[in-house]
Amino acid sequence: MSMTLDAPVFTLEPLSPVLGAAVSGLDLRRPLPEATKRAVYDAFVRYHVLCFRDQHLDEDQQIAFTEQFGELERHMASNTGTRNPLVHIVTNLDKDGNPTGKVASTGWHSDKSFRPKPSLATILHAQVMPPEGGETCFADMIAAYEALPTVERAELDGVKVVHSWKISRARMGIVATPEELADAPPMVHPLVRAIPETGRKALFMGEHAAYFEGQPEDEGHQRLLALTAHAVEERFVYRHKWRQGDMLMWDNRCLLHRANPNFDARKYPRVLHRTCLRGHAPA
Ligand SMILES: [Fe+2]
Repeated sequence: MSMTLDAPVFTLEPLSPVLGAAVSGLDLRRPLPEATKRAVYDAFVRYHVLCFRDQHLDEDQQIAFTEQFGELERHMASNTGTRNPLVHIVTNLDKDGNPTGKVASTGWHSDKSFRPKPSLATILHAQVMPPEGGETCFADMIAAYEALPTVERAELDGVKVVHSWKISRARMGIVATPEELADAPPMVHPLVRAIPETGRKALFMGEHAAYFEGQPEDEGHQRLLALTAHAVEERFVYRHKWRQGDMLMWDNRCLLHRANPNFDARKYPRVLHRTCLRGHAPA
């Protein structure tokens, strides 16, 4: 009996000693056989970031790929600007296609952490990238949590954090619109969450994490800044240098990420298509 019919048909190659693996041999425009899908998900849980090489999905194909793993999460009404509201166009171009000089999402964050069910996974597909720089950087929140002293881990285990779109915008000097505020009210999540498949604990924070519930805002903010400084030390970080055709799928439950603005964003376009997979309430 053939062993290959339903066996995974891709290869995995670690991208760094910290996290991440490159996946070769799949064409994600087509539905994945069940066994392959399971193997992809297992690799996603293990490596936190998967980079599918040589992919060329249009928006509908990216949606179909994402839906194989669950339910799509909608985006903020203010950050779509596409014919398809489930695909967020990450871009530094204005409506006429000219580079604006602005790069979004340069602060460490976990996508949609202000939602009741923050994203399980983000899928980001490179369309146009600058010749150098513009990496997407990831920090491993499991490793960062496990590296904390035992006493601090015990103290943080019971802490709840208020995540706020309003406050994260305000800290960047942007006033959230009434529409955005109605769409994304403050949300409380545990600072330490368990990853269901492995039972390992991860810090859950990032730029939308505003303060500790029941404590003075500034005190919690300072603690979160200090924790983030620890969590994004080089030993926990992987920077993904994009190649044409790369599509990343990463685990938002246990990573912080950011875009590296280390390129001339007034000159070079950087355009990616983003879909998000809805997760569960962190616990
Ligand atoms: Fe993001």
